[in-house]
Amino acid sequence: MNVIEAIKKRRSVREYKDKPVPEDIISKIIKAGVWAPSAHNRQPWSFIVLTNKEKINELSRHIEDRIRKQNPNYKLRDVDDPIFYSAPAVIIICGDASNKWSTIDCSMAAENIVLAATELELGTCFIGRIKYVEQSFLENLGMKKGHQPVIAISLGYPKEMPTAIEREEPCISWVK
Ligand SMILES: Cc1cc2nc3c(=O)[nH]c(=O)nc-3n(C[C@H](O)[C@H](O)[C@H](O)COP(=O)(O)O)c2cc1C
Repeated sequence: MNVIEAIKKRRSVREYKDKPVPEDIISKIIKAGVWAPSAHNRQPWSFIVLTNKEKINELSRHIEDRIRKQNPNYKLRDVDDPIFYSAPAVIIICGDASNKWSTIDCSMAAENIVLAATELELGTCFIGRIKYVEQSFLENLGMKKGHQPVIAISLGYPKEMPTAIEREEPCISWVK
């Protein structure tokens, strides 16, 4: 699969097979992640990988509770796990809080990760709702000191790959 094919094939997957993702595959895609560029090559990212069902559920319930407390009208899907969609693995990408480029750098690593996962026939979904987590929850999961969550990715074998959502024509100002 070439890069443009992977870019177009990637979709947000919100239904996963109940099948674990082997650790070596998760390591491989995270290693693809860290080939992303980063400002001054500081590589300000760190990763928390959850493959334990109970821990994923606990984190999901914690986030759901905090969302509902902060926004009682927030609409979440009516499924068992409306945060990570019962994915067998979750990667939380954290960034150095003192680095002003962290969010951009970690986002680039995140895109590499989802594209590498696509090539390996895995499904992913970016989970911005990780931002609702309490810092201490992630510290208890071993988050690197001085880091904070940027984005999470749910990961697993898709029940099916959703069809593409068409994109708008890009607004381009050509200056020739
Ligand atoms: C920064 C960011 C945060 C996102 N957070 C969530 C999320 O918390 N839950 C979710 O189901 N999808 C989330 N998404 C997925 C978007 O809804 C999805 O990418 C968009 O609808 C386009 O669909 P596609 O990914 O299938 O192309 C997020 C995407 C991005 C880029």
